[in-house]
Amino acid sequence: MFVTIEGPEGSGKSSVTKEVVKRLNNEGIEVILTREPGGTPIAEEIRNVILDKKNTNMDSRTEALLYAAARRQHLVEKVWPLVKEGKLVISDRFLDSSLAYQGGARNIGIDKVLEMNQFATEGYYPDLTLLFDIEPEIGLSRIAANKGREVNRLDLEKIEFHHFVRNTFLSLAERFKDRYVIIDASKPFDEVVDIAYRVIKERIGK
Ligand code: TYD
Repeated sequence: MFVTIEGPEGSGKSSVTKEVVKRLNNEGIEVILTREPGGTPIAEEIRNVILDKKNTNMDSRTEALLYAAARRQHLVEKVWPLVKEGKLVISDRFLDSSLAYQGGARNIGIDKVLEMNQFATEGYYPDLTLLFDIEPEIGLSRIAANKGREVNRLDLEKIEFHHFVRNTFLSLAERFKDRYVIIDASKPFDEVVDIAYRVIKERIGK
């Protein structure tokens, strides 16, 4: 099974997911946690180019193509082989981030970005997508409070950009109802962990 974790900045999705993976592992369920952009050495190199704060003049379509290139490498080298072996793979961000950030917030258009990504994904979709939904104001204030977290090029965008990202994610959840579950990420950490854990357990049927 392939599960993806999505949401705007500061939703806490990465910390929550690490906790959920720990719980599943403790129960003897093998889970591979990975991330996009990245997850393999080549894709991590592409990540460095995309998120480098120096690259302020990166064109939106260049950005979209680089995310898709990193995605392709990640799928071929890591996700597909593991899923084929019957493993549970959880990816912190995937295709829907491109649809929300490049398609929505960067205004390329959701369908155009989806179509471009078909070349990379060959039409492959996650079995389950958890959307950690949060108001951008709350998300960004969490990031500001969490000094240990690296601030990347996309964190530096204006608040309207983050509203656009959130609203696009919500519209994607509506469009891809079958695989989406929305989680209210403004709830206390432990509660969000519990909810995410239960949703995943239910889907994997264990
Ligand atoms: P990261 O530091 O992993 O942020 P987060 O903790 O919020 O996941 O950086 C990933 C950034 O890349 C994040 O701002 C979202 C963005 N992104 C896209 O714009 N498009 C994509 O396809 C993906 C996978 C990520």
